[in-house]
Amino acid sequence: MTTYGNFYILIYIFAFLFLFFNLTQVMAQEKSSVANGEKIYQWHCAPCHGTIGDGKGFNAKNLDPRPANHKDPDLMTKRTDNDLFEAISGGGKRVGKSTLMPPWGNTFSKAQIQSLVQYLRKLCGCMEE
Ligand code: HEC
Repeated sequence: MTTYGNFYILIYIFAFLFLFFNLTQVMAQEKSSVANGEKIYQWHCAPCHGTIGDGKGFNAKNLDPRPANHKDPDLMTKRTDNDLFEAISGGGKRVGKSTLMPPWGNTFSKAQIQSLVQYLRKLCGCMEE
């Protein structure tokens, strides 16, 4: 009897640790941060926008119009954070631009898109006007 009792306690402890671990993982993903934005950008955006965000990714030469230069403060100060969010979420089509800019709203959470906006602000070193 006591042996089984210990066994169940162990199972409860493992189940608790498992749930706790998953919860902290989910919370980490739900918080927006520049670091998360950079990770996503380097994987999903750099092929077109370039690893340094200058719009010269390896795929850029195949695109007309060319991908935006996220390091250009003249362009980026004219966009509000909300404009950038909408462009990323709904793609070029949503903001009246080229459909070669894909929509990401079904791929990334709001927090992840906010992370991307934060990273774009870091790339241009500028804020909205
Ligand atoms: C398949 C290539 C491609 C990929 C991948 C891509 N983009 Fe773009 N993006 C473009 C092109 C092309 C434009 C220019 C559209 C235009 O000027 O009409 C653009 C424009 C933009 C703009 C500017 C819109 C504006 O207001 O001028 C933002 C912001 C942007 N992309 C963010 C991103 C982010 C963030 C990612 C990654 C999640 C990403 N893009 C991935 C091709 C791409």
